[in-house]
Amino acid sequence: MMTKTKHGYYHPTNLEHLKGVFKQFKGKRMLDLGSGTGEVVELALKEGVQAFGVEIEKELWEKAQCWRTTILGDMFDLDWSKYDVLYYYIDGCNEQRRILDKINKEFKGTVIFYTEPNVWICQRFK
Ligand SMILES: C[S@@+](CC[C@H](N)C(=O)[O-])C[C@H]1O[C@@H](n2cnc3c(N)ncnc32)[C@H](O)[C@@H]1O
Repeated sequence: MMTKTKHGYYHPTNLEHLKGVFKQFKGKRMLDLGSGTGEVVELALKEGVQAFGVEIEKELWEKAQCWRTTILGDMFDLDWSKYDVLYYYIDGCNEQRRILDKINKEFKGTVIFYTEPNVWICQRFK
């Protein structure tokens, strides 16, 4: 379901599509780039991932049940190299080019790209 927000639109991941995905990342540090109401972070935490999120929309961030590991702010202000895994929902609304440039510049881990109904896991090299 899509809802209008101050900065654009909000589409949450369909968690059904992530069944079993996080098991291989147990113990890894993961950042959800634009974590919305936090369901992806919560699912990853339940599956043993050290999961974090960053969300720019205060109203969405406030709804996150896992607020202890989600930050209110702009994803571009964080240092992504501190994480082993990035989770990114390519929704066509956010700044895809800027995100890919930052990944290329400072990130050497694994990126989970999600776009309904597909999940790509892209291994990079440290
Ligand atoms: C497609 S939603 C994905 C939400 C969640 N990751 C999921 O998969 O269910 C993208 C989210 O990114 C947030 N967002 C967009 N630009 C952002 C930025 N610069 N910094 C942090 N969050 C941002 C939006 O507000 C929105 O909640």
